[in-house]
Amino acid sequence: MQIHEGLRQARQALHTAGLSDEAARDAEWLACHALSLDRASLLARLRDDWPSPESHHAFMTLIARRCAREPMAYIVGEHDFCGRIFEVGPGVLIPRPETELLIDEALRRLPRHKDTRVIDIGTGSGCLAITIACERPRAQVSATDISADALRIARRNANRHHAEVAWHDGALFAGATGHWDLIVSNPPYIAERDRATLMPDVVHYEPPQALFAGAEGLDVIAGLIAGAPTALAVGGTLLMEMGTGQDRAVAALVHAQPSLRLEDVRPDQQGIPRMVIAVRTA
Ligand SMILES: C[S@@+](CC[C@H](N)C(=O)[O-])C[C@H]1O[C@@H](n2cnc3c(N)ncnc32)[C@H](O)[C@@H]1O
Repeated sequence: MQIHEGLRQARQALHTAGLSDEAARDAEWLACHALSLDRASLLARLRDDWPSPESHHAFMTLIARRCAREPMAYIVGEHDFCGRIFEVGPGVLIPRPETELLIDEALRRLPRHKDTRVIDIGTGSGCLAITIACERPRAQVSATDISADALRIARRNANRHHAEVAWHDGALFAGATGHWDLIVSNPPYIAERDRATLMPDVVHYEPPQALFAGAEGLDVIAGLIAGAPTALAVGGTLLMEMGTGQDRAVAALVHAQPSLRLEDVRPDQQGIPRMVIAVRTA
């Protein structure tokens, strides 16, 4: 069978599974993955035969996983974040584009030629901690997570990118002591009651502890804000992502801390308030 015929079968299977919008893209991407080819090389070989019946079978197995709504990033085992490729798999959240906002702001606030201390709470794949460590080599970067699986993958990502990060297994600051110039976090923030509204790709595959945080989705956020005044150095900053419609509740949590000043709430590309910036004043 020629490669283009296999692609046509795959597109058809994806259409039937309700993935019409992404059928062509996902079929090509998974063929590239199965054949270890880049897209240009795949397109140049469409009239070639599949190298073996096994290679075609392996490709159709990947297509079946996608038809069952497994996210592409888990199938190919990696995902791009801020221009670097991170290993991902069951056990870690797939990094989202809106989280890159935290990196833009973190890098603006961290001088290139100054020693600083940074902690990433709920590191997942390590995408925030590792990107900061790579971009600001003088920063001393720590990261925490309650998930041993996530920390295992984060460590591998740090090796891949030659980043030095101190990893801590545990909740919130997880015993990582000292005063931080920057706390960065994309915590779980989905309300339990919103579970039914999530896409099957998310709710059936991504780890629940990376998604859900209590009835209102604010449990981890509240813990972070309560811990920030003692964890931050004076003048230090908390940069945190939050969920749709949580901006007022999060602002109230910040205002309840006398030594935190709410500096800004920034929108994502859709105009949804997404990132809170709070500074320790005293
Ligand atoms: C939304 S994911 C973010 C992962 C990564 N930072 C990113 O942006 O892709 C949240 C992460 O926080 C971890 N987590 C959940 N509750 C936590 C807690 N109380 N303390 C520390 N980490 C927590 C989860 O295991 C998960 O890896």
